[in-house]
Amino acid sequence: MANTIKKISIIGAGNVGATLALRIAETAIADVVLLDIAEGICVGKATDLTDAAPLSGNNCKIFGTKDYTAAADSDIVVITAGLPRTPGMNREELFLKNSAIVRDAAEKIKAVSPEAIIIVVTNPLDAMTWLVLKATGFPKNRVMGMAGVLDASRFIALAAEAAGVRYRDVETFVIGSHGDTMVPVLSHTKIKGRPIEAVLAPQKIEEIVSRTKNRGAEIVGFLKTGSAYYAPSASVFSMIKAITGNTNEVLCVSCFLEGEYGLNDICIGVPAKIGRTGISKIVELSLNDEEKQAFERSAKQIRETIGKI
Ligand code: APR
Repeated sequence: MANTIKKISIIGAGNVGATLALRIAETAIADVVLLDIAEGICVGKATDLTDAAPLSGNNCKIFGTKDYTAAADSDIVVITAGLPRTPGMNREELFLKNSAIVRDAAEKIKAVSPEAIIIVVTNPLDAMTWLVLKATGFPKNRVMGMAGVLDASRFIALAAEAAGVRYRDVETFVIGSHGDTMVPVLSHTKIKGRPIEAVLAPQKIEEIVSRTKNRGAEIVGFLKTGSAYYAPSASVFSMIKAITGNTNEVLCVSCFLEGEYGLNDICIGVPAKIGRTGISKIVELSLNDEEKQAFERSAKQIRETIGKI
């Protein structure tokens, strides 16, 4: 494993993938390979991004292709390939089609970039992360799913607005599945260092939790075609920065558990330290009884989805 990150490949040059490529290119973190089954889309977007690079004042290279050999020796690979949610469609319904796409991508990544760290974005997220881990056989520190970072950011946006504080004044963890059974951990949620219950009324907190859970669907409802991509790409980017900067900051990501939280052989959102080797440590939060039960419900739902693979 190289010490510096030189190449990041993004599988799926749709809204999330292309917006992520823009974020990487503008900050010159690494060269980008934008790969898609629809070659015209990824070549066109990569060409457009290349034309923007001189204006960013850096020499970042962006290459579009449908050929996995171009993604050889990537340090990080992000899988966004799949079909987007449409109004009224839940995450689980996407499962059958997306699992075939993701399995194929995982096997091809393994062949060309056996040392890569993989970040999975395609839904249903936790089951897809598990599938990538199994299909590649990569060590568990090198496969993670992007969900909790996004869900926590959504919670923070809503809670900060309700409390009239800055985003950075809100701290929270969102664990469990990336879906209706996600668990915003209120017992560890603070606003300006105070427990959220001391700042916001119970009804307001309930509303924030509910809106956080439904945020993705709310956005799909407005867009009609396609789903959220600014916040999802920003969430992946924050994970990439933790890896490239070896920050070891604690982020909620979908991790493979082996005994942590009393669970085995499952990928589920939990807080973890993220650095140059990927997941360096899973953080076990103390949960109250209600949170434990909600987390277990989440795990059960993920297991049911994994069972269909
Ligand atoms: N290989 C490579 N790319 C593929 C494949 C494949 N086998 N199948 C589909 N794709 C590409 C599509 O051509 C499309 O460009 O994946 C891209 C997905 O982009 P969007 O439809 O714009 O979806 P996006 O909003 O970027 O979301 C990505 O994240 O929200 C989750 O599961 C959801 O599929 C969605 C993913």
